[in-house]
This record gives sequence, structure tokens and C-alpha cells, in this order.
Amino acid sequence: MTSLERKKKEEPKMLRNDQLDQWDRENFFHPSTHLAQHARGETPSRVIRTASGVHIEDRDGTRLLDAFAGLYCVNVGYGRQEIAEAIAEQARELAYYHSYVGHGTEASITLSKMILDRAPANMSKVYFGLGGSDANETNVKLVWYYNNILGRPEKKKIISRWRGYHGSGLMTGSLTGLELFHKKFDLPLAQVIHTEAPYYYRRDDLGQSEAQFVAHCAAELEVLIEREGPDTIAAFIGEPVLGTGGIVPPPEGYWPAIQAVLRKYDILLIADEVVTGFGRLGTMFGSDHYGIEADIITIAKGLTSAYAPLSGSIVGDKVWKVLEQGTDENGPIGHGWTYSAHPIGAAAGVANLKLLDQLDLVQNAGQTGAYLTQALCEALGGHPNVGDIRGAGMLAAVEFVEDRDDRRFFDPAQKVGARVSAAMLEEGVIARAMPQGDILGFAPPFCLTPAQADEIVAKTKRAVAAAGL
Ligand SMILES: Cc1ncc(COP(=O)(O)O)c(C=O)c1O
Repeated sequence: MTSLERKKKEEPKMLRNDQLDQWDRENFFHPSTHLAQHARGETPSRVIRTASGVHIEDRDGTRLLDAFAGLYCVNVGYGRQEIAEAIAEQARELAYYHSYVGHGTEASITLSKMILDRAPANMSKVYFGLGGSDANETNVKLVWYYNNILGRPEKKKIISRWRGYHGSGLMTGSLTGLELFHKKFDLPLAQVIHTEAPYYYRRDDLGQSEAQFVAHCAAELEVLIEREGPDTIAAFIGEPVLGTGGIVPPPEGYWPAIQAVLRKYDILLIADEVVTGFGRLGTMFGSDHYGIEADIITIAKGLTSAYAPLSGSIVGDKVWKVLEQGTDENGPIGHGWTYSAHPIGAAAGVANLKLLDQLDLVQNAGQTGAYLTQALCEALGGHPNVGDIRGAGMLAAVEFVEDRDDRRFFDPAQKVGARVSAAMLEEGVIARAMPQGDILGFAPPFCLTPAQADEIVAKTKRAVAAAGL
């Protein structure tokens, strides 16, 4: 047998293949994974086979309630045939054409209109990418271009928050304010600076009221801008609710206070709505929820509910006008990916946004999300190791501490968050151990029912006990 024949014979048949585990460890470079442990077989691997509604099933038949919607992205729930059909139809009709030099497809043009119909009024155009990271890379380039056209070549630095998450590319990994994403990668790059996270529970001064803490965050931002020089700061990027940094809704008044500082120094605002866009907070955008008036909005995940990769940068009027001026002066914009506005992603997006409306899923995200957070508070609010329970729409988090009275955190070596999350899996529920702190995160699909929320809460309670708390 030739090596090609042998290779063909061994070609993956996808499922029911008992070599999958071995092939996985030998061939597959997984993101965000302990590579060495995985290759040595010291950590479990799970092969997901199918999914429906809020449940996923692995190839061994284990069924799990996915209370994190994949990576908070399968917002309409799994197994939606309407989206699958739209993808199949698009693939049959026109699997690909590019969108350079004025080309488009019915799906991509329709989707851009549907997005702008739903976006805040000052938004003007949508640039399509593939994922949240590349969308934020686009945003930074647009901001730099903008300031070059305006004759302000020094105004280039981007301010992001500690614990912000904006991707894991070179620039976006720099914007991300989590140590794991910087360490040993020579990040952050010099053009990125970080400011205080709006994380009231973790404030340094325990005596501060929420209002005082908000004033402190705004003052810290202003000190940073003055120190660096306002003429060097181009933009501020933030998620309406901190996501991967711990699922932390901002304290009351945070966004108005921050926006006042940004306006004072003529700094653009990028609202990273990769998690919050298209309904997760119970409003179409997180910007609607908090009164954020962004210049650029990043979208991804919920745009297609992850049925196909697609992201976008929604560009506001103010920036758009300057981009037009720039191309009048310099010729076509030198930015684009082969897969920008991919028709299959766009078809998935159109079908997904229709489904959100038809099934009233944004409203359900707000209502059932509030119910879930309330039920978590009732079940765990009195637990001596639960320091904080918080939520916004269909996002919730439980933060564990060694001592709740003097807010003493656990030694990270005890891996309390990971232990609880592992115990949840034993119970049949996926909740995410957030990467920094002992924080259990919930971000279920929007079609979650109150009964399923009750199930999540009951199993969380059992898992907390099983983890030894
Ligand atoms: C707020 C936010 N921005 C950007 C990203 C990066 O998106 P992607 O992983 O699709 O590159 C994420 C991913 O979780 C995110 O949560």
C-alpha cells in the first residue's frame, strides 16, 4: 500500500471513530488549551457530535445543558433549521464571491441594511470580517487612518480597560487586559494603554460607594490621558459589560462619566459589542442599554449565532465622513480580507436576525436572564464562600471568595472556579470558569426557559457543595 493509499484509508470518517481521541492529541492544535497536558492525555477531550436547543451531545451520548452558548455565541440556540437551510441554499446558489471594488451579494447587502436598521441612529456603514478579533483590528486601523486624514499623526494610542477582552491578535491581544493573553507573547504593544476596570466588587477602597468608585474610574482615566498627552490618544475601547474579564456589569453612571471625559479630549469611543450585540442584555445593543454613544461598534458572535463565522465593524457618521474624504484624497482604502462579507456568513446572519425577531428572543434574553440571576441570588446569596452574584440580561456570574466578610479571595492555586465548573459538568451543565478569578460565568442561549434556568441553579448549588465549598 502506498503512503497515499494508506492516508486515504485512514482519512477521518468523522464520527464513531475510536481513533479520534488519539488523532486529536496527535494532530490538533487547540486554542486556549494546556498544550503539553493535552498532548500527554492528562486532560479530558470531548468530541461534540450534535446539539439542539440549549443542549449539546458528545459522541459518547452524554447530553449537557450548555449554559454558556458555546462561547456566548449560539444565541438563538442549537439546531435551528431555518439558518441551516439558508446556509445550504446560499452554498448551492453562490458559495463565494468577494466584496472588493464595489462587489456584493444579495445576502451581504441585505444584512448590512438589517444591521443598520437595528443599530443606534448615528451609525452609517458596516464593514464585514470573520471574527471579533479581526473586527477590532479593523477598528484600530480605521481610527489610525481617521487621525492621519485629519492631520493628527500623533493621535494614535488606544486606551482599553484591565480585564477587557477584545481578541487575541497582536493589536487585539494587546487591547485585551488579561495577563494570560500577554504573558510570553511580548504584548501589549506600545500603542495600547490600560485603565481601571469598572469592577466595583474588586475596588481597592472598600469604603467607596458606587458613585465614588465611578468618579474614581473617570478621574483615573483623565489622569492617564493627561499623563500620556491628549494629542496622543485616538480611541477608548470597552465592552458595555465586561465579559471574559469576569462578567461584570458596570456600576450605575459609569458610561456617562467615561463618555464625558472622552468628549472633553476628542477621543473616539469603540463599543465592543461582540458579546452584547443582538440582544444579550435584553436590548438589541448594549449601547442602547447603557446610553453609550459609540463612534464604532464591534459585532460578531450573535450576528450569526455562530452558525457561520462573521463579524462586523459598524462605523458611525463622524468616522465615515473622514474615511470618504480619505479615499477622495488617497484612492481606495487599503484594507480588506478575501472572506470579508462572505455570502455564507451573510446568509446565516440574515436568517439569524429574522429568527431573533420572529421568536422574540431579545425580550426573552432580558426576562429569563433576569430570572436566572435572581434565582442564583436566592439559591447562593447566603453561601459563606459566595462574595458576589451579578448579571445583566442573559449574562450572570457567581464569584467565590475565601471570606466574604473581609472579601478575601482564594489563593488561585486552589483553582476554586475550575473545580466548581468541573463539578457542574458532572451535573450535566456547562458553566465557564472565567480565566481570571474564581468566577463561574453563565451566558445561555436566549431560548432558555425558566424551568431550564431552575435546573441550572439547582445544579450549580449541588456543584458548589461537590467542589468542597
Ligand atoms: C468582547 C469581545 N470582543 C472580541 C472578541 C474576539 O472575538 P473572536 O474570538 O471571534 O476573535 C471576543 C471573544 O470572546 C469578545 O468577547
